[in-house]
Amino acid sequence: MIFGAILAGGVGSRMNIADMPKQFLMLGSKPIIIHTVEKFLMCPRLDKIYIGVHPDWMLHMQDLIEKYGLDAGKLVCVPGGNDRNSTIFNIINSIKERYGDDEDNIVVTHDSVRPFVTNLIIEENIDAAIKYGACDTVIAATDTIVTSENGSTITSIPNRKFMYQGQTPQSFRVNLLFDMYNDLTDAEKAVLTDACKICVVRDYPVHLVKGEVSNLKITTVADYKIAMALEGGVRVD
Ligand code: CTP
Repeated sequence: MIFGAILAGGVGSRMNIADMPKQFLMLGSKPIIIHTVEKFLMCPRLDKIYIGVHPDWMLHMQDLIEKYGLDAGKLVCVPGGNDRNSTIFNIINSIKERYGDDEDNIVVTHDSVRPFVTNLIIEENIDAAIKYGACDTVIAATDTIVTSENGSTITSIPNRKFMYQGQTPQSFRVNLLFDMYNDLTDAEKAVLTDACKICVVRDYPVHLVKGEVSNLKITTVADYKIAMALEGGVRVD
């Protein structure tokens, strides 16, 4: 089976403009998370779509599913965890409990706050996860990337042609990610905040899928303003 996993367990502390997590803010005619869930519902290859919701907002999410007339039979809400990977693993544990341990099971994990994901990106994630076991969605870096270990002077300037910006979805064979995560120490779990990094530190190759600049993550108020302009159909040519 192929599962979507929409991550909505965060509180959006860097946004902080309303008394609710950013995924519930309105974007045009509906909340950000509803746009995201609808993109996943439009992909016929996904058998079930999990939503990992902050525990305090479970009822609100259920209300939204009803209010916006989403296909509730295809959606499963589970409580999110204390960090992003814990939310992913609450979802994976539920998948294993309800649907078993089939080696072919695939999970397409995605930030609830990336509402402009396309069907092509989701489909290419599914194909790559089936073929390679793990994949990440990226765009080539256009700015020069500068690293600084002390936050005040440059440590290095890596060659830009090898630099990419990570987006989501990130997709995996369920059993592969489950086994690698459970093999980590608590100290490793605390620092490996990105699911693909779990594969990288265990030397498992992660295939690259081409993302889109428009597949932006709404992190700050500035991102929210850009998202509202995109949703409103602002021309950029
Ligand atoms: N996320 C999650 N569970 C957590 C933390 C984050 O599912 N415990 C999700 C968020 O809801 C979001 C995605 O991971 O959709 C990307 O994380 P980020 O943009 O960092 O969201 P927040 O953690 O909510 O933001 P902040 O760091 O500003 O508090």
